[in-house]
Amino acid sequence: MTSDNQVLLRMDKINKSFPGVQALKDVDFEVRRGEIHALVGENGAGKTTLMRVLSGAAPPDSGSIYWNGEPVSIPDPAAAQALGISMIYQELTLIPYLDLGQNIYLGREPAAKAPNFIDWQRLYRMAQEQLARVGLEVDPRTLVAELPIAQRQMVEVAKALSLDASLLVMDEPTSALTEHEVETLFERMRELKAQGVSIVFISHRLEEVFRIADRVTVLRDGQLVGSAPISDLTEDDVVRMMVGRELKSYHAKEVAPIGDEVLRVEDLSRGDVVRGVSFSLRKGEILGVAGLVGAGRTELSETIFGVHPATGGRILIDGRPVEIHSPAQAIELGMGFVPEDRKAQGLFLRLSVAFNIVTVALKSLTTLGLIRPNAARNLARTFVERLAIRTPSLEQRVRNLSGGNQQKVVIARWLTLEPKILILDEPTRGIDVGAKAEIYALMSDLAKRGVGILMISSELPEVLGVSDRILVMREGRIVAEINDPRGATQDDIMRAAAGGANGGGSAIQA
Ligand SMILES: Nc1ncnc2c1ncn2[C@@H]1O[C@H](COP(=O)(O)OP(=O)(O)OP(=O)(O)O)[C@@H](O)[C@H]1O
Ligand SMILES: [Mg+2]
Repeated sequence: MTSDNQVLLRMDKINKSFPGVQALKDVDFEVRRGEIHALVGENGAGKTTLMRVLSGAAPPDSGSIYWNGEPVSIPDPAAAQALGISMIYQELTLIPYLDLGQNIYLGREPAAKAPNFIDWQRLYRMAQEQLARVGLEVDPRTLVAELPIAQRQMVEVAKALSLDASLLVMDEPTSALTEHEVETLFERMRELKAQGVSIVFISHRLEEVFRIADRVTVLRDGQLVGSAPISDLTEDDVVRMMVGRELKSYHAKEVAPIGDEVLRVEDLSRGDVVRGVSFSLRKGEILGVAGLVGAGRTELSETIFGVHPATGGRILIDGRPVEIHSPAQAIELGMGFVPEDRKAQGLFLRLSVAFNIVTVALKSLTTLGLIRPNAARNLARTFVERLAIRTPSLEQRVRNLSGGNQQKVVIARWLTLEPKILILDEPTRGIDVGAKAEIYALMSDLAKRGVGILMISSELPEVLGVSDRILVMREGRIVAEINDPRGATQDDIMRAAAGGANGGGSAIQA
């Protein structure tokens, strides 16, 4: 038992239901002073919901909350803020067309002497200090829209810190960060911990959890599985607690017969981000593309898919040269593309799961211009089952799904088109271990049916485990090809990706 004065927060028998889902069932959760506490569980397990209860965004149906041993009620975000609880959400909440200072102090701008005026000088000075605390050396007058995602994440942290929080909740803060940025974030987290701040850290990357957390709490299906010091557990223990069963080695691609060439790219260029890239992809083949963040992998796939015009080279499908000037043309030619930044790629958050899944396939489901509703529903149902999308019904609004399940909806959408060439950019980012296994199985199944898959991934075990062949990119070029991934190591890829014997600042996640 912990002595009571070590405990900052205790949540007791928390229940929370949404229509059709009991998201939390009698969950107990305790955070001590100055600890980093990891909260883990599969997609839809209830992690975000529990933290929304804590931060006043979703008041519980029942249960009690104790803060420094005193019972408190947290009916709204202002009440959480007054206690010193600050949350960084899974989806970034910054306003792109305001600058950093305005975002950090939104709604609590320092007043000038004259009534109703803002003391802008003070605001930017304070913002600068907060940004410096998280290691960001940027002008606080910069618009959020001008910053890369990773830096926006750090601005969120700066904003949360500026609230003088004694408990900071970070919901998957690292999923869009490079290895180097994760390290910077972890350094800040350790500093905060040394100052006595408690942190709840949600992540699907267990390797990170084991690197940074003091204790871990596991949720499954809205229920508490257990809490323990991290040093008492192994990664396998945590996975078993999360999924409630033993996971077999989940990469293993079934050997699919590899057929004829379906895609050939010759000397493809786009300005200086894609420089003279040539490769071919065959039916039933999973071709991995590795490289550091910024190596040009996403740009390459966007160029192939017609998002950006190529400035040189050509593309052949089934041996015939094709012109691709837009994604619509790429789709017409049998390509699908699951982008890296799935949220930004047009989920219709207020519409149903079914609508979001079938929306790009609608054309093929119409007879003389009329949609066949049963066909659409059946298609949606098939993919909800195949990807194990956790939703109470096909009618559920996508905004009500957990973050990982929203991602599966985007993947499902592209699969409905039955593309013959499928490009997947970071297909398992933000996706839990169990669902990863499902996505790998699905890729393997697609390959068996003859789909050629181009998979960009920064997770080296994934690239090595899933691919039939691997291309490594650096500075817009292919610098290595690995024909036998089973015989290769993470080091082989890293060395090629970083160029030079000792690697240098790597951003590949090992
Ligand atoms: N506003 C809402 N309306 C309806 N259902 C909801 C709502 N918010 C969450 N849910 C449901 O509650 C359950 C728990 O979701 P939650 O977002 O807490 O999961 P999570 O553990 O954070 O998952 P992920 O790892 O995918 O982010 C899910 O079944 C989800 O669909
Ligand atoms: Mg979540």
